[in-house]
Amino acid sequence: MPTTISTKDYLLDQAKRRLTPTLNTIPGLGLVEKRLNERDWKQFVLAEPPPGSGLKPVLGDAGLPIIGHMIEAFRGGPDYVLQVYRKYGPVHYAYSPALSSVSALGPDATQEVFSNKRKDYSQKGWHPVIGPFFNRGLMMLDFEEHMFHRRIMQEAFTRTRLSGYVEHIDKVASKVVAEDWPANDPRFLLHPALKELTLDIASVVFMGHEPGTDKELVTKINEAFAITTRAGGAIIRTSVPPFKWWRGLKARKVLEDYFEKRVQERRNATGTDMLTVLCHTEDEDGNRFSDVDIVNHMIFLMMAAHDTSTSTLTTMGYYLAAYPEWQERCREESERIGDGPLDIEALEKLETYDLVINESLRLVTPLPFNVRQTVRDTDLLGYYLPAGTNVVTWPGMNHRLPELWTDPEKFDPERFAEPRAEHKRHRYAFAPFGGGAHKCIGMVFGQLEIKTVMHRLLRQYRLELVRPGYKPRYDYAGMPVPIDGMPIVLRPLR
Ligand code: HEM
Repeated sequence: MPTTISTKDYLLDQAKRRLTPTLNTIPGLGLVEKRLNERDWKQFVLAEPPPGSGLKPVLGDAGLPIIGHMIEAFRGGPDYVLQVYRKYGPVHYAYSPALSSVSALGPDATQEVFSNKRKDYSQKGWHPVIGPFFNRGLMMLDFEEHMFHRRIMQEAFTRTRLSGYVEHIDKVASKVVAEDWPANDPRFLLHPALKELTLDIASVVFMGHEPGTDKELVTKINEAFAITTRAGGAIIRTSVPPFKWWRGLKARKVLEDYFEKRVQERRNATGTDMLTVLCHTEDEDGNRFSDVDIVNHMIFLMMAAHDTSTSTLTTMGYYLAAYPEWQERCREESERIGDGPLDIEALEKLETYDLVINESLRLVTPLPFNVRQTVRDTDLLGYYLPAGTNVVTWPGMNHRLPELWTDPEKFDPERFAEPRAEHKRHRYAFAPFGGGAHKCIGMVFGQLEIKTVMHRLLRQYRLELVRPGYKPRYDYAGMPVPIDGMPIVLRPLR
């Protein structure tokens, strides 16, 4: 059974959720947030534009001493950023001791940053956020070097390769969902259970362990992986024992040692897991990854795939429970493809799922923002940005703009279907997978994984809210996470 349900661990988990003080759980902070949102902060100029350039200066503020706008941002997420957009326009600076940055808001600003022809925006903006833990992952590389690596990695995401991954994903998902998840239990928490499931899937699909084998090693690596992933959210952002950053670096070393050994094993082996595939893929010119490249790419890939898919599945589970008519539409499609082993062709028939997945990604965008850094002085929508400025685009906020989306707060998957196709109102109206050269390479993989898990779940259970009208609250300190773990009741269908 998942640790979140067995009594001791379940109680500990609940206690941790309630008692760990965060900007979302400390009583009274709701009122503080409201006051801060109403306040008019004194604005200053980030940098004077060069005389005669005709560019406008970027204005900004520092918020509260030391913590800047953390309270509003961590509690409100994209809703807070929407207020900033309404008040100050598409380009606004926020000073912060942790990461000062210019927000590039609205679809035009997103487009200018993602599709910038002059190559003014580098991935270096991500370095202070997750750099030491995901060093030289694909997303951290720039320009020519990035293209070189991306071309080789692309070979690990062809349709044939994806078919191999789907087979692995399905084996793990159908077993866990059917055998390990407790039915009729209002204590069941969907988010941690899905986190565990997607990690189980990763140990087979990414690391190449047969399901249920090498348990001790897999557990150790999964723990190291979880610590590494969490380290980017550390408040003390330097290596001081025993704090998060320090633990993250130690855990990264465990992952490096593990993957270094595994690369040696898999170089001469055959297999359809991602690690073995990366050991063999080459681009059209015969270029291949070095051992060190594979280690760095694997650590990043696992991170990139894990929380994003978990988040989407959790959101989808919630909305399907809250909107039973959509759950039924999805289940009818699932009935049509039945209980046999899944393949890509079968998953492609789940078209209602596509609408619901998109609507879930719109309403709770797993990676609501993307970070860049200017490599030279440049301009963004006529505003002057000096070299070295961190720039943050906010697809998660664009997904809530009433000028792009009809009734944006409403769960309405049909908006993605023709003839409405609201996502086509602007090239960057909908960008949960980013855009431009760094657009998510695992987009189709993620969609296939989500469909596989949800198909298995809906064939087995009816998803119900824990009480009528239940609405989750999210912590936006990193990726959006439901604060209470998202209780959902699984009612067996037969
Ligand atoms: C619903 C699931 C997912 C979402 C919402 C998502 C979102 C994103 C976004 C927004 C980016 C762009 C970041 C930027 O521009 O800085 C990105 C990049 C990336 N994603 Fe995903 N992702 C998902 C699943 C996956 C999966 C399953 C994998 C791997 C199997 C993956 C691997 C990557 C990689 C390697 C990059 C970097 C691409 C590059 O820099 O060229 N992602 N993802």
